[in-house]
Amino acid sequence: MKVLLTGGAGFIGSHTCVELINAGHEPVIADNFDNSCPEVLNRIEEITGRRVPLYEIDVCDGESVGAMFEKESFDAVIHFAGLKAVGESCALPLRYYRNNIDSTLTLLEAMAKYGVSNFVFSSSATVYGVPEKVPLVEGMPTGCTNPYGWTKLMNEQILTDAAAADERLSVVLLRYFNPIGAHESGRLGEDPNGIPNNLMPYITQVAAGKLEKLGVFGDDYPTRDGTGVRDYIHVVDLAKAHVKAIDYAATRKGTEIFNIGTGTGYSVLEIVNAFMRVNDLTIPYEIKPRRAGDIAECYADASKAREILGWQAEKDLDDMCRDSWNWQSKNKNGYK
Ligand code: UFG
Repeated sequence: MKVLLTGGAGFIGSHTCVELINAGHEPVIADNFDNSCPEVLNRIEEITGRRVPLYEIDVCDGESVGAMFEKESFDAVIHFAGLKAVGESCALPLRYYRNNIDSTLTLLEAMAKYGVSNFVFSSSATVYGVPEKVPLVEGMPTGCTNPYGWTKLMNEQILTDAAAADERLSVVLLRYFNPIGAHESGRLGEDPNGIPNNLMPYITQVAAGKLEKLGVFGDDYPTRDGTGVRDYIHVVDLAKAHVKAIDYAATRKGTEIFNIGTGTGYSVLEIVNAFMRVNDLTIPYEIKPRRAGDIAECYADASKAREILGWQAEKDLDDMCRDSWNWQSKNKNGYK
């Protein structure tokens, strides 16, 4: 299938691009490099031997998107592009709503016009808000605690309504848990702007000597060791879930939601200790107050994806820790 990847140069998009090529698909990337680098295209070519066509456009721009759809005959769209910093979304909510909602509407309009009917959306476990219980099952109540999360949930609603109104449309909503790790070649990985917000890139930058020590946000949660528990998933496993999702989308109509996680939760201290053990490094850390908006525990019931998509995570925490450090240690300044 010829597949449009919006945000295809980003962390998850770039790994998905490689897995699509490995599976015999033809990805095309649309990216404005707002939070990614053109160098990613070279790295994808190194790994796969394929130069992926690139449209350097903003997917909120209907004219550019229309011109791209006019030129390419897409079979499917995977929509990764979006602003994703939780804290920034609280400070700049209108920017988040404008960008993250407009892009989906623009793509749906182009798809309707050009007869493209398969849509896979990058949603997030954040749509479960403060969970009543874990593991999280797809049918559980949703609700968000910040504008970023609301853009994910609103996009889910928009896509569900669009698929209900247009019988040609097939929508797959993938609710990602916490992607970490990197391509095993060490040529693709996560390259956050500025000081990382997320746990693993923070740990790897401490390991690289770029940051002094990790702050562990809270040790008084009702968890095994008091630190927050999350469902960390290797980005290559997550990428492979997209390959399954486009195949699935192409066989049916309507909307389906899948949790994409491992089903296992690890605490912050378990991650830090695994990282130190696997890579034989020391990560200095100190306990800090809880981070506003954080929840105690979040992990998936991943059985629906296993049963219906035939997908399950194959890599374990040691793989994630090893590959995250392999990427960081070989690319001290990311793609720059
Ligand atoms: N943490 C620290 N120190 C840090 C960073 C994080 O202790 O420097 C802790 C957090 O408190 C949390 C855990 O590590 O307990 C994971 O935090 P991340 O920021 O890595 O990830 P989150 O679970 O907060 O958020 C991620 C994505 C969101 C997404 C959400 C879905 O960043 O985009 O998962 O649940 F919405």
